Amino acid sequence: MAILITGGAGFIGSNFILNFIQNSKEDIICLDKLSYAGNLNNLNEAKKKSNFVFLHCDIGNSKLVLETLTKFKPRAVINFAAETHVDRSIDSPKEFIDTNIVCTFNFLEALRRYFDGLKSDLRDKFKILHVSTDEVYGTLKKNDPPFKEGNSYKPNSPYSASKAASDHLFRSWHHTYNLPTLITNCSNNYGPYQFPEKFIPLFIINALNNDSLPIYGDGQQIRDWLYVDDHCRAIMTVLERGLLGETYNIGGNSEKSNLEVATILCETLDELKPRNDGKSFKDKIIFIKDRPGHDRRYAIDISKINKQLNWAPLETFESGFLKTIKWYLNNMEWVKKIQSRNYKDWVNKHYK
Ligand code: NAD
Ligand code: TYD
Repeated sequence: MAILITGGAGFIGSNFILNFIQNSKEDIICLDKLSYAGNLNNLNEAKKKSNFVFLHCDIGNSKLVLETLTKFKPRAVINFAAETHVDRSIDSPKEFIDTNIVCTFNFLEALRRYFDGLKSDLRDKFKILHVSTDEVYGTLKKNDPPFKEGNSYKPNSPYSASKAASDHLFRSWHHTYNLPTLITNCSNNYGPYQFPEKFIPLFIINALNNDSLPIYGDGQQIRDWLYVDDHCRAIMTVLERGLLGETYNIGGNSEKSNLEVATILCETLDELKPRNDGKSFKDKIIFIKDRPGHDRRYAIDISKINKQLNWAPLETFESGFLKTIKWYLNNMEWVKKIQSRNYKDWVNKHYK
């Protein structure tokens, strides 16, 4: 049997593959177009395994996707592929519409043709899981209850609007064409291999480079942080035991303001990698102009996945965060390789 992973060279997809391949003899087909965020170095350990296959392919290329499905006959498909960074979606929304909506539509059409042609033994087993975000629900006020699956979609950024559209496409392809789909909506992840334009890796790397740590606005925006391995385990749980057509919220029960995260990050680095001048990394925190349309608070109610599928996060923020910081400290070669690509141009342009 085989499992097809799209976007597997990105942050969460590569963590998923590295975790999954440890205990699996199934073929793992990673299909990725290698955008700026896709990095084959994330998959070095997977590349050593004989059951790993990498295909350089855009999910929008329905012909190649259909050929791949027909060749490998996967029992399951997990769709991580997307444009994912909110700031980039504000600067240039077109890529987000192209990938997250148009390419996702092409992908669904290839999946539909493949599914319609399957014989009943494979057809009965086949499942597709679409990985999405809690940002589709919009923003919460301080005392609002956390997002539940029944909340209405109120996306506020081009990123979240394009992901909301992709969720709607998956939902409707299930209802109209009986495509066997599942959707997960997860809160902010952190962990190894995250592209250093996102908040936590950007701050770790800036601190180590003696650069400033730029907090948007007042830093009181809240995110519900989840360690990436917990997200990967939740995805596998939903794939194996979730009900087709359902959506499942995934979160860390770990709401923290950005300023709190930055402070913990600085204090952790002060212990693990003290500055030569003896000062705290907290000195490096600066407050800069807020992100346009910046969502104030995200928080996830995980009771559905917890009660129905018995999933809960295993890491606390403290334990997952310490692992993450240690990983970046021990993997500066990975960071340097990424920074030697086009990463710096965009980060420099963005922060000047
Ligand atoms: P990422 O940006 O690190 O990786 C995205 C991957 O998708 C890259 O390898 C990229 O090359 C690939 N890709 C992009 N467009 C493609 C296309 N058209 N065809 C094939 N491959 C393509 O993203 P991530 O943080 O790993 O997120 C993965 C998924 O999880 C996304 O769908 C995202 O919306 C969702 N998600 C992310 C978070 C988070 O905190 N990072 C939280 C919830 C949900
Ligand atoms: P980010 O990692 O971009 O994820 P998202 O926007 O999808 O939640 O940002 C997390 C939070 O950190 C968000 O509230 C924006 C904030 N942030 C900063 O304050 N400074 C930064 O340099 C970055 C990248 C993010």
